Amino acid sequence: MPLSHSRIRTFEEYQDAYQRSIDNPEQFWADVAEPFTWRRKWNTVLKADMVNGHNEWFGGAKLNITENCLDRHLATRGNKLALIWEPNDPKTRQIRYTYRELHQQVCQFANVLLNNGVEKGDRVCLYMPMIPQLAIAVLACARIGAVHSVIFAGFSSTAIADRVNDAQATVVLTSDGLNRGPKQIPVKRVVDEALEHCPSVRRVIVVEHLGWPVHMQEGRDVWYHQEAEEAAKTCPAEEMDAEDLLFILYTSGSTGKPKGVVHTTAGYMVWADYTFRNVFQVEENDIYWCTADIGWVTGHSYLLYGPLLNGASTLMFEGVPTYPDAGRFWEVIDKHGVTVFYTAPTAIRSLMATPLDNVLSYSLDSLRILGSVGEPINEEAWYWYYTHVGKERCPVIDTWWQTETGGVMISALAGVSPTKPAHAGQPLPGVQPVLLTQEGQEIEGNDQEGYLAIKQPWPGIIRTTYGDHDRAKQTYFGPYPGYYFTGDGARRDENGLYRIIGRVDDVINVSGHRFGTAEIENAINQNANVVESAVVGYPHDVKGQGIYAFVICRAGACDSDADKPHVEASIIETVVAEIGKIAKPDKIQLVSGLPKTRSGKIMRRILRKVAEGETSNIGDVTTLLDPAVVDEIINGRK
Ligand code: PRX
Repeated sequence: MPLSHSRIRTFEEYQDAYQRSIDNPEQFWADVAEPFTWRRKWNTVLKADMVNGHNEWFGGAKLNITENCLDRHLATRGNKLALIWEPNDPKTRQIRYTYRELHQQVCQFANVLLNNGVEKGDRVCLYMPMIPQLAIAVLACARIGAVHSVIFAGFSSTAIADRVNDAQATVVLTSDGLNRGPKQIPVKRVVDEALEHCPSVRRVIVVEHLGWPVHMQEGRDVWYHQEAEEAAKTCPAEEMDAEDLLFILYTSGSTGKPKGVVHTTAGYMVWADYTFRNVFQVEENDIYWCTADIGWVTGHSYLLYGPLLNGASTLMFEGVPTYPDAGRFWEVIDKHGVTVFYTAPTAIRSLMATPLDNVLSYSLDSLRILGSVGEPINEEAWYWYYTHVGKERCPVIDTWWQTETGGVMISALAGVSPTKPAHAGQPLPGVQPVLLTQEGQEIEGNDQEGYLAIKQPWPGIIRTTYGDHDRAKQTYFGPYPGYYFTGDGARRDENGLYRIIGRVDDVINVSGHRFGTAEIENAINQNANVVESAVVGYPHDVKGQGIYAFVICRAGACDSDADKPHVEASIIETVVAEIGKIAKPDKIQLVSGLPKTRSGKIMRRILRKVAEGETSNIGDVTTLLDPAVVDEIINGRK
């Protein structure tokens, strides 16, 4: 498929496409979907149900997404670079695969999966470093119709076990170890611990990366490189139904347990493809780099599927922005001639805090488009990115979306539509955002603020939460029947551009990663010293939001000030063990009580104010069971 199909090039074309997508979505998406490789075309484009959340796209169609990512390009782009891998250590070897080579690698991995008994519909969990085999393995699962569930390789063994068990995965793919900046992490050991609690897993396939010796469990564990020796480099793609599961990706919500967001084959494919092409305005010779890990949805849609569906060259980076120094991103851009760069505000803010020379000593001449994702980008970070990275030459697009939306929902199209710092902008074709009052009334007109919801399904809409459709229904379609509820608050400015304000539920966004406050509280409460806890977010210069935990200790656990550091350290250890380092509280305040109403509900509003340092403006506390606790909390603020 040429990159130019259903490609919007001017603002007028955007307006026209948007209108057509709203007036006649079925015709619009049928046109967009036309050029893909289908084994069989659809019977119906869309069956919508925004009350129960049973939305179906391209019903009756048969396809395989990897034929669209790989096989389809072989005739015209066989020798074009598909995947460029930049290692953690800049002095070690890069790896580059053309479309033809990537196709062979994926087929070979697919055969290893088949030889190990993986069947269509089986769930395969991946807990792997950012190495080419991760991308290859994801596509190999899709090739044979297995459902991939990638678990970010920073989660703890407990978090892995929860996800593997929820998905009832039979196979886990991992590696001996991983590099993260100056550190090496024994990934296989973490998987081994997790699998002590995962009876469904019968096979572990281990990719050699660091060359570390690892324990291999007889009858369960095999080395990928040994299995690959006998695996052919061709593998026919499994024929999938449009609505067959493509992947599960776990994400946090306002309840304690992360949920498995399900995306299916055809709708996700069309949405990842269309949004990638139009948001990033990618051209045939671009070198595109998305810094997200494949363990998050951004890595799925915009490192892997979107670029490959478009026949683009996508760069995958194993390392971190600050290793070996804070110029690494810029060094990689110059080294590979990156033209389109997509990263998160947290990375920009952490680099902004280092000497400007780190960026000014690189030319960055190749860049033409800059993107941001994951959390609101504050104006200061936006201008720094625009000025010092983009040299006031590259549009900065602020892309708003979610794991559940599959792809970008609100964003400027680079160089096509207007951008405004800290504003995501306008909806993509097919997306009808509305602002609702708390009661669910649509708020008309511009210069308004409300709860952000989406009317009408788009092809990438979440299909279900794995194993529990009611949960999806209640979370996304229950609050305002007839709408998909995002959990975000937003403002529509005087020109109709959207600015995302942040979550309106009990979800906090730490460095672009979502955590439910209840999820972190559950983890803290596992600590033997703890009776109860309450977690809130607070503004953090680099992370966007930090995690502030108010904790009540068991009597005797923390009687003297000297006990406090030990108890706090042990609470952190517990969170790291239950979830992972990424959910470590930034501040822990040990308290004797929490501000509760007479009915026992914690008044988080008060805790948020304390965490934010807004203690002079705490509001009414008269409805509290014990108003005195508020003074104690204010006085002990960290
Ligand atoms: O609050 C919004 C924030 O991240 C949430 C979605 O998180 P997740 O599913 O992990 O996906 C992140 C990557 C797509 C949203 O509900 N968010 C994401 N992008 C933006 C954003 N907030 C403001 N501006 C954005 N561009």
